Amino acid sequence: PLLSECFNLHDFEAIARRTMKKAAWGYYSSAADDEITLRENHSAYHRIWFRPQILVDVTNIDLSTTMLGTKVDAPFYVTATALGKLGHPEGEVLLTRAAHNHNVIQMIPTLASCSFDELVDARQGDQVQWLQLYVNKDRDITKRIVQTAERRGCKGLFITVDAPQLGRREKDMRLKFTDSGSNVQKGHKTDNSQGAARAISSFIDPSLSWADIPWFRSITKMPIILKGVQRVEDVLRAVEAGVQGVVLSNHGGRQLDFARSGIEILAETMPVLRQHGLDKKIDVFVDGGVRRGTDIIKAMCLGAKGVGIGRPFLYAMSTYGQAGVERVMQLLKDEMEMNMRLIGCAKIADLHPGLLDTRGLFVH
Ligand code: FNR
Repeated sequence: PLLSECFNLHDFEAIARRTMKKAAWGYYSSAADDEITLRENHSAYHRIWFRPQILVDVTNIDLSTTMLGTKVDAPFYVTATALGKLGHPEGEVLLTRAAHNHNVIQMIPTLASCSFDELVDARQGDQVQWLQLYVNKDRDITKRIVQTAERRGCKGLFITVDAPQLGRREKDMRLKFTDSGSNVQKGHKTDNSQGAARAISSFIDPSLSWADIPWFRSITKMPIILKGVQRVEDVLRAVEAGVQGVVLSNHGGRQLDFARSGIEILAETMPVLRQHGLDKKIDVFVDGGVRRGTDIIKAMCLGAKGVGIGRPFLYAMSTYGQAGVERVMQLLKDEMEMNMRLIGCAKIADLHPGLLDTRGLFVH
């Protein structure tokens, strides 16, 4: 189909399923075990309803907001997803260019197919990137990665904390991994018999703990954000540890099956933060299953600073390249603009929990 015939993000997924190489589809679309969390991530949004307010001037809708001090045109960002060249020969650099054209932030993955330098060099103007970090058992390597990122202008360090071991993604494991172009970290043999995910992840340190956070604080001035927080208790602990943010996320359902959705954890977290007067102390992001403008609006109503989106950009990139990624971004902006109008809010700062009925959210 023509790109102009893709009317929503689900269309891109359906086309990608039909047209992508098997191994790439297997790696991108797969999730842990029975993929219950994968499905829950999107369906949790279906348990939240709107309580629109009427008779508000919604002539002009402004979707812009600020994330970690960066002004962006819309409250979503391109989250880190590994192995971009599985889907498209040019890889993540296409995401960099699309993010620039839509003025949204890109999170660079540790395991990008393109080199870190290539992705930083592709930045245009005052475009902003963050770094996603998998912590290496060899802390000298980790330190070098972090300090290189800071020196090269990254504006946030997102430490992935939900992957001490990579989850079992059986769809991916059935396909032997043969890609050699990935940015695998040196000094570690890869076992290609267990799918792409496991082949590239053996360097990750399962001993990473709260005790390591002060060390990260000591080696960088970048804001530190923990990616993959799944309960309010850990959000409070993150505040205590002095980090600047958390991403409520289950890694797109690819790690612990039966992990709860990010949006549900957000609804659990924000009232507690407000109760303790901590909601201004830490920036809360959420990702997983965001496929519609209304999903983003719901997360912003509940108090998120921004939402991360993964697979839809990969599917669009794999099939239509940069133009596909940009169309996904435009569709999300268009859907957001229309639905902001319909709920009676002209700007992001006007979104609030009273616009939602979340009574059903916690009922599974
Ligand atoms: C990911 N994700 C991820 N996260 C991370 O911290 N480091 C990584 O290398 C990757 N790699 C990765 C690859 C692929 C193919 C996917 C789909 C996801 C998780 C990602 O950052 C994010 O949490 C989810 O993708 C969000 O869910 P959706 O938007 O894909 O539903």
